[in-house]
Formats: sequence, C-alpha cells, structure tokens
Amino acid sequence: MSAILFAVGEMAAASATTLSAGSATSLGSIVSPKLQSKAFIVKCNTRNYLRNFSGLKAEAFVRCESESSFLGNESVAALRQSITPEARNEMQRSWNHVQSQASYKVAVLGASGGIGQPLALLIKMSPLVSSLHLYDIANVKGVAADLSHCNTPAQVFNFTGACELANSLKGVDVVVIPAGVPRKPGMTRDDLFNINANIVKGLVEAVADNCPDAFIHIISNPVNSTVPIAAEVLKQKGVYDPKKLFGVTTLDVVRANTFVAQKKNLRLIDVDVPVIGGHAGITILPLLSKTRPSTTFTTEEVQELTLRIQNTGTEVVEAKAGAGSATLSMAYAAARFIESSLRALDGDADVYECSYVQSDLTELPFFASRVKLGRNGVEALISSDLRGLTEYEQKALEALKPELKASIEKGITYAQKQTVTA
Ligand SMILES: NC(=O)c1ccc[n+]([C@@H]2O[C@H](COP(=O)([O-])OP(=O)(O)OC[C@H]3O[C@@H](n4cnc5c(N)ncnc54)[C@H](O)[C@@H]3O)[C@@H](O)[C@H]2O)c1
Repeated sequence: MSAILFAVGEMAAASATTLSAGSATSLGSIVSPKLQSKAFIVKCNTRNYLRNFSGLKAEAFVRCESESSFLGNESVAALRQSITPEARNEMQRSWNHVQSQASYKVAVLGASGGIGQPLALLIKMSPLVSSLHLYDIANVKGVAADLSHCNTPAQVFNFTGACELANSLKGVDVVVIPAGVPRKPGMTRDDLFNINANIVKGLVEAVADNCPDAFIHIISNPVNSTVPIAAEVLKQKGVYDPKKLFGVTTLDVVRANTFVAQKKNLRLIDVDVPVIGGHAGITILPLLSKTRPSTTFTTEEVQELTLRIQNTGTEVVEAKAGAGSATLSMAYAAARFIESSLRALDGDADVYECSYVQSDLTELPFFASRVKLGRNGVEALISSDLRGLTEYEQKALEALKPELKASIEKGITYAQKQTVTA
C-alpha cells in the first residue's frame, strides 16, 4: 500500500511540472522519510493555490521536489538551475497554470484487467486529469464505482461492451490500450498475437472514428506488432498521425533504471538508461553506455544486466505461475508515460521518454528510442543515443533487427488482410 502511495506522490510531483503539493499530515507522513533525505526540497507557502484543491494533497505546503521527477537528470538539472527568486515566481505561475488548465480526458480500454485497474487508480491521482473513462468488455462498473470514491478531482465514467465503446472515446486526449490477454508461463509475447491483434484492431478502429486526434498508447502485446497494426488501421481510416501513436516501452526503462541503480549502488531517482529497439526478448536493448549519471560497467555486468532487462517480463510471468504477467510495475510505467504525455500536451517543453514509434533512426519503420514529446506528439527522435555505441551494443542492435523486422511485417500483413469496419 505504501508503495502505491509513494508512486502516486511521485506521479503527482512529475505532473505538476515538478511541483508537488503535499499534506504534512497525510501524504507527508508516508512519503517524508524518503523525501526528507533528498538533497533538494523547496517549500513555498501555497495555501492560496490549494484552497480549491480537494484531492489527496490538501492545503499545507507545496514541495518543489525535483528528484521526484520521472524524467531523470535533464529535468532535475533544469530545475536545480532554476531555483532563483525569479524562477520561484515562474514556478508559482506554473502551478497556477496547472491548476487552471488541468482538464484532460484519459480513456483506458481494458480497464478492469490486471494492468487496467492499478493504472486507473494512478491516473485518478493525477491533477492533470479531469475525466477518466474506463472501458472494458466486463466488470468495469464495479471498478469505476470503487475508484470514484477517491476524493481526487478526476471524474470517473464507465463504459461496457461494444455499444458503449464510441462514447468512451468522445473528446478524449489520451487513449491507453491494455486490453487483451497476458502471457502464461512458457509463452512468448508473439504467442499472444492472434488474440490481441484482433482486439487492438477493433479498439483502434473505434479510436479512429471517435477521437482521431488523441495520443494513442498501446500496451497490449506483442507491442512490436500491435503498434504497426494500429498504424495500418489508422491509415486505412485516413487519420494516421505517426506523431501520436506510441508503443509503451516505459517498463523496460523503469526496470533498467532499477537494476542499474541496485548494481552500481546509485540513487534510484538519478538513474536514466535509454532502452531502444522493441519490446520483446532480444529486441529490448538497454544502452548501458548511455547511462546517466555516467557509469562504467565490466563486460560481465553489461551481459548480465542486458539479459536481465530483456527477460524480466518472463521472470514475472514465471513467478506469477499462470496468474498473468507484470501488472503493477506496468501500471506504474504506463502512468509515468501518460503523465509525460499530459505534461507535453500542457505545454511543458522538456519532456523526454523512450517509446516505440514510427521512426527513421534505423532502416526499420518502427523503433523504440528516446523521443521528445510536445503538444502534437513526437517532436523529435533522439538520434544521439545511437551514436558512439559500444561494440557489444552495436552487435546487439544489428542482431535485434531481423526479429523486430519480422514482427513489424507480421503486424502490417495481418492488418492489410483484414477488412476495416466502416
Ligand atoms: N507493454 C508492456 O510493457 C506490457 C507489460 C505487461 C503486459 N502487457 C500486455 O498488456 C495486456 C493486458 O495485460 P493484463 O495483465 O492487464 O491482462 P488481463 O487479462 O488482466 O486484462 C485484460 C483486460 O482486457 C479486457 N479486454 C479483453 N478484450 C477486450 C476488448 N475487446 N475491449 C476492451 N477490453 C477488453 C479484459 O476484459 C480484461 O479486463 C496483455 O496483452 C499483456 O501482454 C504489456
């Protein structure tokens, strides 16, 4: 429980352009021991800003908590530099801006599932969200009723079954798709293809018809194929905007950051490892040489960490022994990616995340890399990460290409064979 609440605290901190509002008595008592140990905390008197805020974080103070940012060093460094009186005024304006503009609508398709439920909870905690639309083919009413009792601002709406899908998408800014079946022990992500391809196709058709301008976050596996399927469906519907279609690979980054911090005894919140390629087995390529803060690894450490990051999903599937795949860490990672997207939509000019997107960084049409997010989606692909790779990384990059290419082609071929529903 405390782990979830801590994640929520971090999420809110990131969402408020690294301003976090905390109640001294409730949230503070849960989060404080860890936060207090951090080097950089600024407290501002903010009763006025928070008077109308009825969420978990009520009234007592605002903590400008740079190191709670999900975005790692860049934003931490930016905030450190900015702590001057003028910058503090700017932060106050920023906070007012967030308070007044926080009105985004987010839809979760597959909201009653193992990922959908904790993800919905984390989104419900975001001060940037005014409406949370929960859609599933089953059990969504209860999830929505339960969630709606949390006294945070986002209003919760539930939608069940195909006849309510269109309404769940009307006016939505970000659509997240964790609908589908998860892996069981012994299965690869590709084994999910036949079921999940069809689910993603149907849901993306509805997105195309009802909120074609929304950011679309695909979680359903195999992401290496479901994103190309989504792209084809959107093309067939005439509404494809490659800047707004994302395969969610944030969990690979979250895992890489955790394992590197543990291995090198670094402060978790400082570590940022870009993960490129795709989201299955060897297509997941952590660029350990690009770790921030700059860190050296022995050859054995590189091999061990790379293999672990590539296989962690399977580790969880086996540990759950038939009861599904990663759900809680996935919800955390997806919430981070949503929060980053909302901050970009809200005009934050310093938002970077890794994601599997249409790309020209390699010869493959889809590729995961760091991207800069802006109001219109992907503003830039960060090519510098691919320069100056180690020999190990260069070989691994070449080795992953045939598998990723085959998965992309499988998705495209599947989508092109299907008839898109008018
Ligand atoms: N991208 C990643 O890093 C990552 C990580 C973990 C899991 N996943 C994938 O996420 C997906 C969901 O995993 P889970 O553990 O939540 O599974 P789950 O079975 O617990 O939940 C899936 C939910 O989708 C719903 N659903 C099925 N068909 C639907 C449809 N047509 N419309 C709306 N909802 C529908 C189900 O009713 C269920 O509630 C799986 O494909 C899994 O492989 C991705």
